[in-house]
Amino acid sequence: MYVTLKEVLKDADQLNMAIGAFNTHNLEMLPAIIKAAEKQKTPVIVQTSCGTANYVGHRNFVAICKSMAEEYGVDVVLHLDHAKDFGEIRKAIRAGYSSVMFDGSSLPFKENILETKQVVNFAKKYGVSVEAELGTVGGTEDGIVVSQDKVYYTDPKNAVKFVAETGIDALAVAIGTNHGQYKSKTNISFDQLKQIKEAVDIPLVIHGGTGVKDDDVKKVIDLGIRKFNVGTELLVGWNRKSKECYDANKENISNRNNVIPCLDKIEEIVSRKINLFKNLSE
Ligand code: 13P
Repeated sequence: MYVTLKEVLKDADQLNMAIGAFNTHNLEMLPAIIKAAEKQKTPVIVQTSCGTANYVGHRNFVAICKSMAEEYGVDVVLHLDHAKDFGEIRKAIRAGYSSVMFDGSSLPFKENILETKQVVNFAKKYGVSVEAELGTVGGTEDGIVVSQDKVYYTDPKNAVKFVAETGIDALAVAIGTNHGQYKSKTNISFDQLKQIKEAVDIPLVIHGGTGVKDDDVKKVIDLGIRKFNVGTELLVGWNRKSKECYDANKENISNRNNVIPCLDKIEEIVSRKINLFKNLSE
């Protein structure tokens, strides 16, 4: 079924697992993400940046997510990732996205509350879920670099006020992860996460999932992470395989010979991640 973030995260909480949220960077990647979820028998969150949504067309993403959710019998959430602009949020919701993230993390605290609240009020009218962020996740986000001196962790006391006043469905936390970190791994502040988890009672979201060590996945899920964002690993996997294929194949060969190996790579990465996020190992 085509569902909301709130619904899948509620089930994840009961099962002490996280739902994988995978950034698709084009229309072609999307089926591979949903097929991997079908094989792993878990719900899946497909997310797009505003840039990708505008380039592919919001309604195209909505149509494919809905039709594949039905055809494959998988619960699919279509989520807008890191929208900083209310206009982009309205566009996605009106086109049929079932979840959005408003990212007011660079705003002063009070403004972040006010703007997030506006988004929640609008989204509620459409039955759409809202994720918001408090604190700063470092690294590179859609080409924009957040310098390390601008990074600050989510403050648990502020988180209590933020959640109560905004009515959001999920909170993205800053605990040491970085967007776009694929050449090394992150040192997570588990203590910070523990304090946030003890302070608020809503599902928590980890960004920069590519840079999280496999061994840390279980630890953060046990500390309340319910949505696990992964983007760069898919992008790098696709680009590497793509280069290999385009270099090896003749230029007049059908394009599917270059694209299908990339899709297989995406399916392999998503499957492996979902398996970790099920949090089954002892
Ligand atoms: P990575 O690209 O580092 O995996 O992070 C994805 C993400 O957090 C999207 O919001």
